[in-house]
Amino acid sequence: MVPYVYHPPVWPPQPLWARTSQEGGASGEKPDLIQDIAKAISGQINAIACYEKLARLAPTEEERRQIMEIRQDEINHYREFTRIHVRLTGQQPRQVTPEPCPDDYKEALEFALKDEQETVDFYLDIADKTKDPAIQKVFTRAAHDEQNHAVWFLYFWTKRRRCRCNHP
Ligand SMILES: [Fe+2]
Ligand SMILES: [Fe+2]
Repeated sequence: MVPYVYHPPVWPPQPLWARTSQEGGASGEKPDLIQDIAKAISGQINAIACYEKLARLAPTEEERRQIMEIRQDEINHYREFTRIHVRLTGQQPRQVTPEPCPDDYKEALEFALKDEQETVDFYLDIADKTKDPAIQKVFTRAAHDEQNHAVWFLYFWTKRRRCRCNHP
């Protein structure tokens, strides 16, 4: 008779001590990484609200469509970061009220482009802080998206600067 062989779901099987956090937190991630992920989620909530406003202020259909595409990337980031937060903490992130962004199109573009540039560094720092390849991948990919967003906003801002338009 063939002896019963237990196949654990993870192969090779890890001893319990290897799964226990050496750094604190049930996930094995440092608490400041979890705080950073929560901050990244708040940033996404702000960006989603701000870009909706920006899209409404856009002077052309082409710019409006591009801003809505950028906004969709932010929604995707929000979902991915939330999934990571739930996996690490077992909890949904705290809901925050979005911070206001400028009412003027050109000012809002400048605000968004600075924010995108800072976010690139912030996401790359998060990717560096974790040893989890899935989290590294999500934040590195998101950093590339933010760099791309910054270039679009810079392009729209430069066009406004050159034409010295008064509207809107
Ligand atoms: Fe984002
Ligand atoms: Fe972005």
